[in-house]
Amino acid sequence: MLFICIETMVLKKKKTSKKNSSSSKTTHREILEEIIRVDHAGEYGATKIYDGQIAIFGKNSKLGKTIQHMADQEQEHIDKFNELILEHRVRPTALLPLWNVAGYALGASTALMGEKAAMACTVAVEKVIGEHYQEQLELLGDDHKDLKKTISKFRDDELEHHDIGIEHDAEKAPGYKIMSKVIELGCKTAIAISKKI
Ligand SMILES: [Fe+2]
Ligand SMILES: [Fe+2]
Repeated sequence: MLFICIETMVLKKKKTSKKNSSSSKTTHREILEEIIRVDHAGEYGATKIYDGQIAIFGKNSKLGKTIQHMADQEQEHIDKFNELILEHRVRPTALLPLWNVAGYALGASTALMGEKAAMACTVAVEKVIGEHYQEQLELLGDDHKDLKKTISKFRDDELEHHDIGIEHDAEKAPGYKIMSKVIELGCKTAIAISKKI
């Protein structure tokens, strides 16, 4: 009799744990904070990169207009993350002043190297950001459907920027491969730091 009782209890426990594991995923608060903090930092940096490029090419040049289109979308992205950081009470990264200077310097210096180099910078940055947003979509639970929708839309915008760079001969920039690797590594490092600090 005791054996039957124990067996029934074990079976019940197994059923319950199976039910829990299949229930919809919820996002840990720490993960949510990291996502919003790093995206806010990244979008801020992106607006500065394009500011730096536009300062060199001018708003009214042919390439300047293309860059302005991307800059306008980055402005929408940072506006949204400015809202989200307040709504979810997330501390912004302490490194915003650094990303301000580093972003602008990256944009301006690649633009000074020429149109193809500027586009190579866009390709490298947007590739990392697009992948980064994709990873976040897999991390977020069903409890943040609106945020997932926002990130999914922004990921598509970043991939469009990446493709614009490719269409404008980014891959023909002198030293394209090494420049891409250096910028990609820089972006990945900035992402890792901005999640925490
Ligand atoms: Fe963006
Ligand atoms: Fe972008």
